[in-house]
Amino acid sequence: MKIVVAGATGALGRHVVAAVRDAGCEPVPLSRSTGTDLVTGAGLVEALQGASAVIDASATSSTSTSASVDFFTTVTDNLLTAERAAGVPHHVAISIIGAAQVRANYYAGKAAQEDLLRERDGGWSLLRTTQFHDFAQQLIGHGAVGPLQVVPTMRSQPIATSEVASELVAIATGAPQGVVPDLAGPREENMADLVRRLLASEGRRRPVLQIPLPGAWGRGMRDGSLLPTPGTRRGEMTFAQWLALRQS
Ligand SMILES: NC(=O)c1ccc[n+]([C@@H]2O[C@H](COP(=O)([O-])OP(=O)(O)OC[C@H]3O[C@@H](n4cnc5c(N)ncnc54)[C@H](OP(=O)(O)O)[C@@H]3O)[C@@H](O)[C@H]2O)c1
Repeated sequence: MKIVVAGATGALGRHVVAAVRDAGCEPVPLSRSTGTDLVTGAGLVEALQGASAVIDASATSSTSTSASVDFFTTVTDNLLTAERAAGVPHHVAISIIGAAQVRANYYAGKAAQEDLLRERDGGWSLLRTTQFHDFAQQLIGHGAVGPLQVVPTMRSQPIATSEVASELVAIATGAPQGVVPDLAGPREENMADLVRRLLASEGRRRPVLQIPLPGAWGRGMRDGSLLPTPGTRRGEMTFAQWLALRQS
């Protein structure tokens, strides 16, 4: 079984490619660095020939509402159109718990992606998860201000990308399900604390400053909107275990 992985070089995509192989399937990795731009869509139909499913793990690094909405709607539309042309029966997407409710900045793009799928009459599955453990790393890339590391005030229950990847592949090898039950990490954490622990694990001593971001975006981060509801399925790997694995 051939499974296309869009965004194959990202934090999640790398694990999805490995999980596809572990499941005995053949991954077809797509990203700009492998020669496919999902925004232009050039060459997509050819790349999707013979695939049984597409797992979309692509993302923009922009946090502006318009750029995020543009990216996620354009990529989703291009993938769905190419899938139809190439006869691929299953599109698997990932979104973020609470994004559709917060619907601002980056989360507006995820909400728009979810809306596009829901307009479709079948042929897709959507998994929502909490932030990945890697999110702390992604924040470090964005929030260096002089000697300081600025981190938004944020409640999160992060999950391991390897666990999300296995779940996405399990979904992709089955029939389309629409929205599947959410998946969260094992415990709630404070994002600034995770960034401090990650920096310390790398021997970096930069002071971490936690700031409340303005607007609906920042409010959603700190008011618990991105946390799972009681009874949500949980992954097993804690942030501490993920850090230890990263250092081994
Ligand atoms: N990070 C989190 O905490 C988190 C939590 C829950 C859900 N999610 C969702 O999980 C998905 C993956 O997130 P991530 O954090 O793994 O993203 P990421 O690390 O930023 O990776 C993004 C991937 O998309 C590719 N990409 C970006 N623009 C592209 C384009 N124009 N054409 C082709 N490929 C493109 C990148 O490769 P190139 O740069 O080589 O093109 C890369 O492989 C996203 O849908 C995100 O919203 C993320």
